[in-house]
Amino acid sequence: MYFLRGVFVLLCALLSASRAEDDVKNGPCDIFSQDVNNLTLNCSRRNIDRIPSWPEEINKVADRDGHVLITFFNNSITNITELDRVPGNKIAISFKSNRIREIEDDAFKNIHRLVYLDLSNNRLSGDVLRSEIFQGPYNEGVYSQIALETLSLGYNEIHSLDKYLFQYTPNLTRLYLNNNPIELLDHVTLLAISSATKLEVLDLAKTDIDNIPLDAFRGLVNLKQIDLSGNQFVTVPESLSLVGSTLQYLTFNNNPIVELNDDSFIGLTSLVELEVGENDNLEEVKRSTFMPLKSLRVLHLCHNKNLKYISHNAFRGVKDKWTLKEVYLDDNNLSELSTDLLPWDKLEVLGMTGNRWLCNCDLANIVTKQDAGSKFKPGEIPYCAAPMRLTGAYVTNITVSFCPQFDTTFATKKGFSIKDLKPKHILWTILGVATVVGIGMICGLLVNLAKAFYRKNLRSQPIRYININDDLA
Ligand SMILES: *[C@@H]1O[C@H](CO)[C@@H](O)[C@H](O)[C@H]1NC(C)=O
Ligand SMILES: *[C@@H]1O[C@H](CO)[C@@H](O)[C@H](O)[C@H]1NC(C)=O
Ligand SMILES: *[C@@H]1O[C@H](CO)[C@@H](O)[C@H](O)[C@H]1NC(C)=O
Ligand SMILES: *[C@@H]1O[C@H](CO)[C@@H](O)[C@H](O)[C@H]1NC(C)=O
Ligand SMILES: *[C@@H]1O[C@H](CO)[C@@H](O)[C@H](O)[C@H]1NC(C)=O
Ligand SMILES: *[C@@H]1O[C@H](CO)[C@@H](O)[C@H](O)[C@H]1NC(C)=O
Ligand SMILES: *[C@@H]1O[C@H](CO)[C@@H](O)[C@H](O)[C@H]1NC(C)=O
Repeated sequence: MYFLRGVFVLLCALLSASRAEDDVKNGPCDIFSQDVNNLTLNCSRRNIDRIPSWPEEINKVADRDGHVLITFFNNSITNITELDRVPGNKIAISFKSNRIREIEDDAFKNIHRLVYLDLSNNRLSGDVLRSEIFQGPYNEGVYSQIALETLSLGYNEIHSLDKYLFQYTPNLTRLYLNNNPIELLDHVTLLAISSATKLEVLDLAKTDIDNIPLDAFRGLVNLKQIDLSGNQFVTVPESLSLVGSTLQYLTFNNNPIVELNDDSFIGLTSLVELEVGENDNLEEVKRSTFMPLKSLRVLHLCHNKNLKYISHNAFRGVKDKWTLKEVYLDDNNLSELSTDLLPWDKLEVLGMTGNRWLCNCDLANIVTKQDAGSKFKPGEIPYCAAPMRLTGAYVTNITVSFCPQFDTTFATKKGFSIKDLKPKHILWTILGVATVVGIGMICGLLVNLAKAFYRKNLRSQPIRYININDDLA
């Protein structure tokens, strides 16, 4: 009995082994080829620890229009050695989630049509990333360049980049450096980044940086998108204004920022989409914060759990030339919004869920009279948190009868608040007072001088005393 079961198990093992052998007869990787223009070589999850040579089929790919994807996702490769030639015009290779510590010189020189390279989630340090790894074939005394457009270096051990790293990759368009212990964007790293003049997308999320030097992005005349989430910034870096005329997407989540104000987005005139979320310290959006954003279409201001106050002047300067279509204010700690915060009826989508709305007549005005209520996505109608008798009701359910004086309450401006004062304003005030005092003092001095002069002249004139009695006599 036991013997039979043993034989059975053995048979099964043999069978499955031979079936497995069937599956891997083209080498260790699976090949999918739709046509001569499209080939995928799947080497994911195969316990590979060194890069194999490519199977024969790869040479069927057309050189001119061929797209080839090769993935080594989740193996245990430690060393990228010189890869064999891959035909085709656009080649993408992923080494995501391996144990790579080393890349040889010339590793990609046989694949100069390599456009996409994913090296994320490995053990690369900045020292390993030197320009020689990307050099193309050696021709007439110089190394040629390669076509690389997208390079992902996320989740490695990079502190700093070699300043010549992108010497042979002039078409680099997307660079992902997220989740590396960079901490400080040093001089050489900045030289490396700014040498990639075609860069359009730069991901610096979770790199522990708290500052970007003022001229860091000089030369990046094509930069369109940047992610600075999960860092230590206490203000939005001013250095962004250097790329303000091209930057379209800014993601600024999860930073220890306390307020947004009229300095936050200076110069970002081309920004189309802004995301400021999960900033646990953010309490206030001050007046004129969004004033520079003359092209903004989508604003995500969500999941800032301490955000309580948005100045009614936050959109000052962009209200008359309104470009915003989508405004998301979900999951903050807001209870009130000013009726004149923005032209509510010009929005296409408005998100307000997950706050602590006080359902007063201002909110009723915004939702009903100014039609904000029709901009909520289906199933995303915000609730009232107060007053007590309206708790749990949809904000769209507050009726006009609840606010009889509706027409007269429209757009009543909030009074001036001491909170609106900024050091800048105080400085100007002091300067103003000082000027007035100064003018006063000068006037005083002049008056005193005139008096002194007058007295002196008077004294120098002989005073004649008329003897009334003499005259009379
Ligand atoms: C290549 O084929 C895959 C399916 O095997 C398909 O998903 C992909 O869109 C194709 N790509 C191109 C560029 O034709
Ligand atoms: C590649 O192969 C692995 C392991 O066999 C499999 O899990 C994965 O789904 C495959 N991926 C693709 C894109 O075919
Ligand atoms: C890679 O595969 C191992 C098992 O071989 C697994 O434990 C691990 O979670 C996988 N890693 C990723 C990033 O998928
Ligand atoms: C990487 O592989 C190459 C070729 O096999 C070898 O010469 C080199 O020493 C290896 N480097 C490391 C760090 O293992
Ligand atoms: C860079 O892109 C341009 C324009 O697409 C192309 O002409 C050039 O050959 C590319 N450079 C390399 C090294 O592939
Ligand atoms: C929201 O603000 C209230 C005070 O207005 C405060 O008591 C509460 O803790 C805040 N909520 C969060 C999630 O911080
Ligand atoms: C909204 O009002 C309708 C009727 O006017 C009522 O049936 C519904 O329960 C109300 N819903 C909420 C959440 O207030």
